[in-house]
Amino acid sequence: MNSCIAHRGWSSRAPENTIAAFILALNESKISAIELDVHLSKDGVPVVIHDHTLERTTNGKGPVSTQSALDLVQLDAGISFGPQFVGQKIPLLEEVMALAKGKKRLLIELKQMGELYVGLEEKVAELINKYNMYHQVVVISFDHESVRKVKEYDPKVEIGLVFTGRLTMLAEQVDYTGASYLSIQHRFITKELVELFQDKCVQLVAWTIDDVGSLNRMKGISGNIHITTNRPEIMIEDVKKAK
Ligand code: G3P
Ligand code: CA
Repeated sequence: MNSCIAHRGWSSRAPENTIAAFILALNESKISAIELDVHLSKDGVPVVIHDHTLERTTNGKGPVSTQSALDLVQLDAGISFGPQFVGQKIPLLEEVMALAKGKKRLLIELKQMGELYVGLEEKVAELINKYNMYHQVVVISFDHESVRKVKEYDPKVEIGLVFTGRLTMLAEQVDYTGASYLSIQHRFITKELVELFQDKCVQLVAWTIDDVGSLNRMKGISGNIHITTNRPEIMIEDVKKAK
């Protein structure tokens, strides 16, 4: 059975990484988790947006890291998706956690790059502690050192490693960081890989599958692979309607 993770919320139906996209995902019983992306504002507040810069998804300009949280939350993050979403904001991570608490799992991706966001790891771990969401949250990142720091700061937090391209040193990185999730670009997931990790306490996540062909390939690989998708409708509705 493959569980469905809504990538940046239900991002085919509402602007990515907004409260509107998260509410749609939270209200759909066949979605089991939500993935979202986190940066740090200039004044050190974790905020939910994918890019390092504001232009693509908001009416702001420049790097996220150069603006305060107060300035960031005044931007419009819905306008590029459609007029009905005007007024959607860049959410604070804390706001999303409060909204999701007790409802669905969150995969919180830290968009850390080396030392770009000083203190991001501690701040996210503190929020998980504040909301007591240890059993509901996995902190993931392409920056494996970043999630290792989260685990070091609070060993109760579950972490995951995101991989793209060639998969090297997977088992070694799992041992080094204490990760319990591996999030892998779906084309690189094979039966052999699933078998390699089936006896270890590591869960596999495929990102990001938006077409029925790739979904069927993943379903054909036995094993409990979680599927991250911008289009949860392909896992929910009749497949023909979603094509
Ligand atoms: O969850 C992993 C996936 O989201 C990584 O890619 O660029 O969409 O954050 P990206
Ligand atoms: Ca992401």
